[in-house]
Amino acid sequence: MDIQSINWRPKLGDRTNFGIGFVGCGGIVQYGHIPAYKKAGFHMVAAYDLKREAAEAVRDLTGGSATVHDSLDALLADPAVEIVDIAVMPWVQHEIVQKVAAAGKHMLCQKPLSLNFDQAVDIVNMAHQAGVKQAVNHQMRWDSGIAAARQMIEQGAIGTPTDAQIQVSSATPWHMWPWLASAPRLEVQYHSIHYIDSMRFLFGMPEWLTSRHAKYAGQGDVKAETKSITIMDYADGLQAMVAVNHYNMHGETHAVFRFYGTEGAIEGTIGLMYNYPSGRPDTLVYRQQGRDPIELPLDEMWIPDAFVGPMAGLMSAIETDGVPPTDSADNLNTLRLVEAAYLSASENRSVALAGFLEG
Ligand SMILES: NC(=O)c1ccc[n+]([C@@H]2O[C@H](COP(=O)([O-])OP(=O)(O)OC[C@H]3O[C@@H](n4cnc5c(N)ncnc54)[C@H](O)[C@@H]3O)[C@@H](O)[C@H]2O)c1
Repeated sequence: MDIQSINWRPKLGDRTNFGIGFVGCGGIVQYGHIPAYKKAGFHMVAAYDLKREAAEAVRDLTGGSATVHDSLDALLADPAVEIVDIAVMPWVQHEIVQKVAAAGKHMLCQKPLSLNFDQAVDIVNMAHQAGVKQAVNHQMRWDSGIAAARQMIEQGAIGTPTDAQIQVSSATPWHMWPWLASAPRLEVQYHSIHYIDSMRFLFGMPEWLTSRHAKYAGQGDVKAETKSITIMDYADGLQAMVAVNHYNMHGETHAVFRFYGTEGAIEGTIGLMYNYPSGRPDTLVYRQQGRDPIELPLDEMWIPDAFVGPMAGLMSAIETDGVPPTDSADNLNTLRLVEAAYLSASENRSVALAGFLEG
């Protein structure tokens, strides 16, 4: 196949000038959302954070287009705000969503949608009852390597998928998220959730999930698991593995994806993880037995570039009255996999997904 014709870049709808209001103006908004939205030409109109200086920093980063509000109510009353971009810690998200839904505004929520599955269902129901669109910021689906792989797999490049691996071994800068040190769940809840969601995006729901979690001896006051290996078995024999450790203190960082099938293989690197958050662009190579490998040149990074995707998808869904690609109701399936991973690890067993946390 002609892999050079693959276009992994996010597709924008006809209308992209929706007014975006940020609630929570911390790290990820400043180094993820704003650079991506600027590149896409999105219209950032408002900012609110409990810490006024964070909202002011966002205003400055938007070149002054975002008005700083003194309260969530004031931001929600601002007629220029059509989409609320929520980027607070997950345990705060439910109370924000309640108000956003009551104000009848569309919203982009952060991952994880909630730390509690029932509360996540409630978040989804609130948006549904208010008749507003609600997407989740699982932007790895638009990471150039993953987006290109998805198109290649759809077009038959590897035939029937047989094995899928995402393996990351790096020294994670935990100081960027001080609140994570005390989190009772860490690696899968906050990090591997991206890879698990990407596997689901590429291959759908598995039949079985097995997950093993561990700590690194020198992780100090970081409370929860920082190493995990998750295996997802599919009905047709496909095995998908996500293996991550965050304390590779001496070895060379690696962050690789490999998707193998009956007709070919896709191998690549997740560039962002090579020195987070500055990173480097992804790489992707397509291999078939007896043929020269073909490289697909990629010039974008997971953060910030992929952040265009969830917002663009939400805008298109509003415009067409469709369903966002990372719709929150569908995101419950990613959370089912996360919950299955913690159940599997705590009970030392594999978890069948059929019927597991299905409403
Ligand atoms: N999608 C991704 O790739 C990605 C990457 C990093 C972080 N995240 C998620 O984004 C969220 C924020 O992460 P961060 O790294 O920016 O954290 P952060 O601590 O840098 O920023 C969070 C901000 O939210 C503000 N805040 C807290 N409660 C608030 C409230 N009630 N009203 C208004 N503002 C409030 C805080 O003052 C802070 O400025 C987390 O849920 C995290 O899991 C997602």
